[in-house]
Amino acid sequence: MARESEKLWGGRFEREIAPEVEDFTESISFDHKLFRQDIRGSIAHAEMLLKCGLISESDCIAIRETLKEIGAEIEAGTFRFDQKHEDIHMNIEAALIDRIGEPGLKLHTARSRNDQVACDLKLWTRSAIDSVAGLLESCQKALLDRAETFSEVIVPGYTHLQHAQPVLFAHVMLAYIEMLDRDRSRLRDCRKRLNICPLGACALAGSALPVDADFTARKLEFDAALTNSLDAVSDRDFAVEFVFCLCMVAMHISRLAEEWLLWASNEFDFIDLDESFCTGSSIMPQKKNPDVLELIRGKTGRVYGNLTDLLTTLKGLPLAYNRDLQEDKFPLFEAGSEVGKSLAILTQLISKTGIKKDHAASACGRGYMDATALADYLVLKGVPFRESHRAVGAIVRHAASSDKKLSDMAVEDMRKFHPLISDDVFRVLGARNCVDNYRSRGSSAPAEVQRRIDFWNTKLDA
Ligand code: ARG
Repeated sequence: MARESEKLWGGRFEREIAPEVEDFTESISFDHKLFRQDIRGSIAHAEMLLKCGLISESDCIAIRETLKEIGAEIEAGTFRFDQKHEDIHMNIEAALIDRIGEPGLKLHTARSRNDQVACDLKLWTRSAIDSVAGLLESCQKALLDRAETFSEVIVPGYTHLQHAQPVLFAHVMLAYIEMLDRDRSRLRDCRKRLNICPLGACALAGSALPVDADFTARKLEFDAALTNSLDAVSDRDFAVEFVFCLCMVAMHISRLAEEWLLWASNEFDFIDLDESFCTGSSIMPQKKNPDVLELIRGKTGRVYGNLTDLLTTLKGLPLAYNRDLQEDKFPLFEAGSEVGKSLAILTQLISKTGIKKDHAASACGRGYMDATALADYLVLKGVPFRESHRAVGAIVRHAASSDKKLSDMAVEDMRKFHPLISDDVFRVLGARNCVDNYRSRGSSAPAEVQRRIDFWNTKLDA
């Protein structure tokens, strides 16, 4: 009967578990991260058992105080985890029983590790959602600060990575703020759907004991208790959704990283990355490499992998709990920590980045980015757009052949292509005029951009 004394579930076994199997099935090496959630969940469960008359007040106090003591030891790194107890749930329960005896033996009443792990994982994911949402907001604030600090700077706007139309640098920063705001809204949505407490499902069917699932749900700040025990223990949708949200964040910040990598290159040279956020080369003495941005871009692949990992683990699972679910923690934890780290460092990098106003201005002088402004100028004089587009195309071809900017051409030369062009054309040519003349909703018009800066200042401070 050696077995019975070793394992919490040892009662029905005569022979010891094979050491290879113990190695293969353990999860304590990675689910120890859930200790805070496990202790919080167990305390709420014990309080529910007391309220329902299943344990005494002194049992509940002994359980609660000892669980807190165990928690403090894990926090301090003095608690010894034992692989023999498989996972975080049984390591904590075994320590509890070891320390207080009988009251500890009652804790697992009307509970299974199946609803316990689902609950722990939801609590972990919920606080990870809150932390990523906070990191996103800090990143938005850093972007807003750059927008305000460099509010006068104009940069080329691109389509197909070709010069298209000039825009305010602030408008570019505000575009990323919008993206990250959608990420925050997705996380809020995910949190709402997650926030149903699975405790009370027990192994899969619920319990024959007089328990109160609403009580534990309330204690653990869930919005409601479970409505189907089978679903409660088999559901990992919240993990998939959260990792998907993280994929979107990773994709967004990877795009920003890529744009800034281009902007930091010798070819663009629009931004100045702070030296403390760059690395050198072991052979080329002149190098100042933007590795932080590259790694933010690079980690995105792993985060996408985490989503595929999780979805694939789930795809063939019948109801209800299956041990496969133990594997959910790797992708969930990894995606959470990688995206968290990326966001934190990106925020710092953004707030240390300067914009090279003159380089951006001289780039704005290339590529005929005021051609659309000239076409619109003719439209305002009554010319059908397709006709003005054709005329301006011909003007651009002519200017390019003599390597001139549109604003360097004589009015008489331009008029050869369309009779309605007159001296006032110089009020629309050039990047500054282009930007100042934008007027539509959501455009890069200075007033419109300022309106959004004001909006975000109020919203992000609230
Ligand atoms: N370590 C397990 C997991 O993470 C806990 C649940 C185990 N349940 C069971 N019936 N073996 O999924």
